[in-house]
Amino acid sequence: MNTATTQSSQQTIEIFDKYVIPNYGRYPICLVRGEGSYVWDAEGKRYLDLFPGWGCNMLGYCPPPVVEAIQSQAAKLIHVPNTWYNEAQGAFAEFLATRGFGQAFFCNSGAESIEGAIKLARLHSPEGRHKIITFENSFHGRTYAALTATAQPKFHEGVGPLVAGFRYSAFNDLDQVASLVDDETCAILVEPIQGEGGVNIAEPEFLSGLRKLADENDCLLIFDEVQTGMGRTGTWFSYQQYDVQPDIMTLAKGLAGGVACGAIMATTEVARSLRPGTHASTFGGNPLAMAAGVAAGKMIEDENLLEHCQEMSRRFASHLQTLQTELEIIRELRIRGMMIGIDLTVPSMPAVAKCMERGVLVNATHDTVLRLLPALNVSAEQVDEGCEVIAEVLREMREEA
Ligand SMILES: Cc1ncc(COP(=O)(O)O)c(C=O)c1O
Repeated sequence: MNTATTQSSQQTIEIFDKYVIPNYGRYPICLVRGEGSYVWDAEGKRYLDLFPGWGCNMLGYCPPPVVEAIQSQAAKLIHVPNTWYNEAQGAFAEFLATRGFGQAFFCNSGAESIEGAIKLARLHSPEGRHKIITFENSFHGRTYAALTATAQPKFHEGVGPLVAGFRYSAFNDLDQVASLVDDETCAILVEPIQGEGGVNIAEPEFLSGLRKLADENDCLLIFDEVQTGMGRTGTWFSYQQYDVQPDIMTLAKGLAGGVACGAIMATTEVARSLRPGTHASTFGGNPLAMAAGVAAGKMIEDENLLEHCQEMSRRFASHLQTLQTELEIIRELRIRGMMIGIDLTVPSMPAVAKCMERGVLVNATHDTVLRLLPALNVSAEQVDEGCEVIAEVLREMREEA
């Protein structure tokens, strides 16, 4: 395998230091190529990535059908504006609607899909109804309405004033939501599984209760499935495991096999409120992203990756449950498909560096949670390899605690 690059990680870092705004904390490594769940740095070191693309590389790095679709589409038509029809957009909308529900509006990111969903909810609601209820420890993105919806004070510091009309409730606390709903409420926006907030799984009664509350109070239920959608939890969308259908669903991250793409899915009745002139996205639904999305979706079906995801999820769970019986620093395991949270009694950040030294990439979130979002096509050997390294690292951390 040729991993030769033209410059070292250090040379790239020097260019960043001069020319790239330093708003991200970055590891001092430049990644240059990837294949499946493996990725290589400029020095040729290989990593097993159990958090590929921050959840965007749902099928790992460079999934061949997606690469082929992009190459072939790029030679025909990269972008056309939404004043014309394009075949790929229709095909991807049909794909998503027939695996889920409703009609699609396409955009380019998670935050953009949240902005669109909030606008749609307000547009659909009678005059005067504008309030949106969201949840503590949620994460919906960094643009202003998405940021305001994100009920975590640390993300709000220094950037106010925020958008008016948001109310926050504790997650999994139906009584508190009920106490916040009033005749100005137009929507309840919730992640069925909070990702950034620590892999917090909604109770089934909570989501069915939200559905009931929304129906009784004439407001909409919006599920943010930016992280949980497109097969991540072992079904196309995580609402399908709850038997609760939202009115609007937001999607992004792994939607198009690693290509920037976001979407809103809305029931046809609600979708009608997004009339011409009310909302738009210049790049949204461009043929390149749409072709990648169709190829990603077909790959998930052709390779039975929803079943495989569930099988690998059980394999991760079995390794991690065994480890939990050995290590008291594992407080709780929260696992749904390829969405895995290992809640520790100690800060989780040091585990990331220790795993990276040993060639495994993972993420830390919400202070104590080690988070994995492995590719749906991760192999059994890779699950074993990754869990072995995590076990070694957590044993070391137990000694240090
Ligand atoms: C549930 C959820 N919603 C929205 C977003 C924002 O997505 P993006 O970073 O593509 O704007 C994220 C990103 O992590 C997310 O996890």
